[in-house]
Amino acid sequence: MRVLVTGATGFVGSAVVRRLLADGHGVEALVRDAGRARRQLGEAPVLREGDMLVPGTYAHLVEGVDAVVHTAMLSLPGRLTARRAERLFDADRVMAQALADACVGHGRRLVYTGGCFDWGDHGDAWIDEATPLTPSPLGVGHARMARELDALHRDRGLDVVRLSPGFVYGPGGLFASAFVEQAEQGRLRCLGAGRNWWSCVHVDDLASAYVAALARAQPGSAYAVVDDEPLRLRELTDLVTDAMGRPRVGSVPPALLRLLLGGPLVDSLTTSFRIRGDRVRADLGWTPSRPRFRDHVGESVAALAREA
Ligand SMILES: NC(=O)c1ccc[n+]([C@@H]2O[C@H](COP(=O)([O-])OP(=O)(O)OC[C@H]3O[C@@H](n4cnc5c(N)ncnc54)[C@H](OP(=O)(O)O)[C@@H]3O)[C@@H](O)[C@H]2O)c1
Repeated sequence: MRVLVTGATGFVGSAVVRRLLADGHGVEALVRDAGRARRQLGEAPVLREGDMLVPGTYAHLVEGVDAVVHTAMLSLPGRLTARRAERLFDADRVMAQALADACVGHGRRLVYTGGCFDWGDHGDAWIDEATPLTPSPLGVGHARMARELDALHRDRGLDVVRLSPGFVYGPGGLFASAFVEQAEQGRLRCLGAGRNWWSCVHVDDLASAYVAALARAQPGSAYAVVDDEPLRLRELTDLVTDAMGRPRVGSVPPALLRLLLGGPLVDSLTTSFRIRGDRVRADLGWTPSRPRFRDHVGESVAALAREA
C-alpha cells in the first residue's frame, strides 16, 4: 500500500509511519516543516508540507495514494479553555471533511483517529464500540466527526474505519509531558482521588492496529484499541513513579488544576474510561505485544531516559 499519513511527526502519526515502512509499505507524510520531519522520520517517507486548516495544501494528495490515515491534531500550547478546544475540534473537522470528500471522490479508504474521551464518563461500567458517544469535553470534536463520517459512509459510500485508542503511552506524547517530565520536576500529582479508570495502549501496538485496519477492516467499521488491563488513574500514576524509582506522589484537587490547565482538559482526564477491546482482536486479529501497562511502563520510562 501507499498511504498518506497526516500528523506524521506526531506521537501517534510517527509510530504509524515507522510501522508502515517496516512492513514494506510506501508513506507520504503530511508535515508542517519538511526539514524537521526529515530529521525525525528519516529518508524513507515522501514528505509533503501542508496545513490542516488549508485543504488546498493536501486534498489533492489523496488521488496519488491507496489510503489515508488521519492523526493530525492542531497544536495549541497553553491553557485549554472551552473556546480553544472548539478551535481544536474545528481544525479536525476541516481536515477530516476535506480528506473524506477526496476519499469519496477517488474511492480511497480513510482511517480516522478518535479517542478515549469520546464515550464520556462511565464509572465502573465497561465501554465498547456499542456504547453511545456521550463525550467528555475533549471528546466532543471526535464524537461529532464520528457521526459525520458514519453518515458519509451510509449516504455517499465513504470507505472509513474509525479507531479510538485508549491513553497512548510510550516514549513521547502526554505520557512523557504529563507524567514522566512532571515527575522528574517534582510536579506530578494524581488528579483527584484517581478512582476513575483509564484504558491504555502502547504507541507501537496502536500503530499495528492502523496497519491491520488499512488491510483488513470492513468499510464503515469502528474499533476501540486498548490493551488488556484498564487501571485506575491512582494506580497508573503509582506505576509511573515506581518505574522511575521515585516516591509515590500525593493528589491535587481537580478544581485547582482547572485554573492552570483549563477545564475541558482536567474534566476529561478525570472521567472514567474502562474500555473493552474485544472487537479489534476478533475482527482484525490484532493483539497487543504489550498487554498490560504495568509490565511495560518501565520500558517506556527507560526509553525516555535514554533520549534525555
Ligand atoms: N496521545 C494520546 O494519548 C491519544 C489518545 C487517544 C486519541 N488520541 C488522538 O490521536 C490523534 C493524534 O494525537 P497525538 O498524541 O499523536 O498528537 P501530537 O503528538 O500532538 O501530534 C499532532 C500532529 O499534528 C500535527 N499538526 C499540528 N498542527 C497542525 C497543522 N496546523 N497542520 C498540519 N499538521 C498539524 C503536528 O505537527 P508538528 O509536529 O509540526 O507539531 C503533529 O504531527 C489526535 O486526534 C488525538 O485526539 C491521542
